[in-house]
Amino acid sequence: MVLSVERATRKFENGNVAFRNISFSAKNGEIIGLIGTSGCGKSTLLRTVSGLDQNYEGSILVEGKEARDHNENISFMFQEPRLMPWLAVIENVLFGVKDRVANEQSAIQLLEQVGLKGFEKQYPKELSGGMAQRVAIARALITSPHILLLDEPFSALDAFTKMQLQDLLLEVWEQKKATMLVVTHDIDEALYLCDRILIFRGQPGELCEEIVIDRPRPRSRGDEELAKEKKRILSLLNLEKVKS
Ligand SMILES: Nc1ncnc2c1ncn2[C@@H]1O[C@H](COP(=O)(O)OP(=O)(O)OP(=O)(O)O)[C@@H](O)[C@H]1O
Ligand SMILES: [Mg+2]
Repeated sequence: MVLSVERATRKFENGNVAFRNISFSAKNGEIIGLIGTSGCGKSTLLRTVSGLDQNYEGSILVEGKEARDHNENISFMFQEPRLMPWLAVIENVLFGVKDRVANEQSAIQLLEQVGLKGFEKQYPKELSGGMAQRVAIARALITSPHILLLDEPFSALDAFTKMQLQDLLLEVWEQKKATMLVVTHDIDEALYLCDRILIFRGQPGELCEEIVIDRPRPRSRGDEELAKEKKRILSLLNLEKVKS
């Protein structure tokens, strides 16, 4: 298992508890969705897995080592691209890379792969939101991470750009086969992307259900089986409004 979470809890110094008693694991190359209403600890869970937040109880093993002692081979992507405005696109992709010269060709290739060939020398302010998020995808992949953590990566984008970037993410995943944890509020997105969806509930958040999505890719966005799963997820989250 590339990731193994055992009864993990995160309590903050002020008494808040983000999540409680969470256990799950991820196989190499799996895409796992995390869904749950606001405040149930999803972002905090990603931070603990990344090693940024080290004060958890229980065990979070990343490639066999506790997450607090291990932050190599992990990349993060957020809702907003978080690009450095004073750096050109290619420099943003290479930001944080130790040997920039050795990685420059990979950065150029990655930019081509995410549809930004020719934009290497442009600056973030010259890009659309979708283009900036493509740069963020390239930046997340430049280190060839084994685990990619995505916190609502496409939620700030319009519906069409979102669908394009979901497909792009699957394309690069096909090549790199990184394990991905994707936090999303978009159930359709989770059903389209993920092998497994973890449903969190409550505050503190607890894992209430694991749903295996056993549909081959590429999936159809109108798939009837997926629509049934969507109904189930909505009812698990108590979000289903049924007409009487
Ligand atoms: N640094 C902190 N100190 C104290 N409490 C915190 C801290 N960070 C998060 N929390 C609390 O932990 C809980 C979970 O927060 P988190 O941001 O992980 O939720 P989330 O599931 O990502 O929510 P959303 O869907 O709105 O992004 C919240 O109750 C929040 O107040
Ligand atoms: Mg969050």
